[in-house]
Amino acid sequence: MPDLTKYIDLIKNGDVVAFPTETVYGLGADAWNPAAIQKIFTIKNRPSDNPLIVHVSSKDQVRDFSEKIPDSADLLITEFWPGPLSLVLQKKSKVLDAVTAGLDTVAIRMPDHEIALEFISKTGPLVAPSANRSGRPSPTRAEHVKADFGDHFPVIDGKATKVGLESTVLDLTGDQPEILRPGSISRKEIEDVLGFSVHESFFEHMDRPKSPGQKYSHYKPEAEVRWLKAKEVPDNQEYLYLLLDSSYPVSPNIIAYDNDLDQMARELYDRFRQADIEGYHSVIIEDFSEMNHPLVSALLNRVRKAIGYSSNTPNV
Ligand code: TXA
Ligand code: MG
Repeated sequence: MPDLTKYIDLIKNGDVVAFPTETVYGLGADAWNPAAIQKIFTIKNRPSDNPLIVHVSSKDQVRDFSEKIPDSADLLITEFWPGPLSLVLQKKSKVLDAVTAGLDTVAIRMPDHEIALEFISKTGPLVAPSANRSGRPSPTRAEHVKADFGDHFPVIDGKATKVGLESTVLDLTGDQPEILRPGSISRKEIEDVLGFSVHESFFEHMDRPKSPGQKYSHYKPEAEVRWLKAKEVPDNQEYLYLLLDSSYPVSPNIIAYDNDLDQMARELYDRFRQADIEGYHSVIIEDFSEMNHPLVSALLNRVRKAIGYSSNTPNV
């Protein structure tokens, strides 16, 4: 465990600090300090209509942010927290508009990471978007945060994150629970706990997204991203290939996952950054959408965004 003292002081002084979670690194600020939260939007160049997730270190802290906690939330919290599931609940009136971007709901999660939990237990609840500049892939290593915000930026180094994709965002404020952003906790796992079906709304109603984040094309490297075509041979040195199949000869520009989607998810953003640093023209990804794996939905969502399915929307 790194020494957290100076980072705790920074948060208490109204500054921002990047810290590791199990999904990606977050850019943390005191959830009750509007000036500190404003710094997040400025540093990231984040659109002000995109709300933030509150990160707690204990389940009781949810009650400071919401008093209308449905039974479904209790069930999911018991099953999945700490873990990569953000729950959207009705907010208490005292929750800052800077957190919710003026919505009457608030997203909350308890990260499954020893450093994050220790840190938040000392600072109190933190809002934390992914610690990247808007429009860059989310950071899965401390070096990624420094690449975006400079070498002297305060980052608690917790090594590479274990999931690699952002949390599942589940809205519990409507008639039926709705997944607003797929993550490593899949629709099926959620339905198994709740005992009824949930809706998965991402990529629908892009004009009026329920989660403001849906309309922004995050996760987009400079390199073009596209799917491997049928019968395409991975032999172009200007392309970085991310393949399921391990039968091609080993080469620095061919990454073979041997059908391990956990590994692909863990590395995806790092590979996007690598492609830009090393000047690859394209990242070519073998289609995994037919695989039966809980990460398919989340990975597909991130790859599609990187390909530019929402290219008519601002790239932030
Ligand atoms: O895994 C994660 O969730 C990471 C780590 C750091 O915890 N955080 C993260 O935060 O990905 P961010 O800000 O990059 O993404 C938050 C997403 C956005 O799509 C946002 O629109 C949505 O959550 N969101 C936040 N509050 C919401 C609310 N009240 N209603 C609907 N969507 C909300
Ligand atoms: Mg983000």
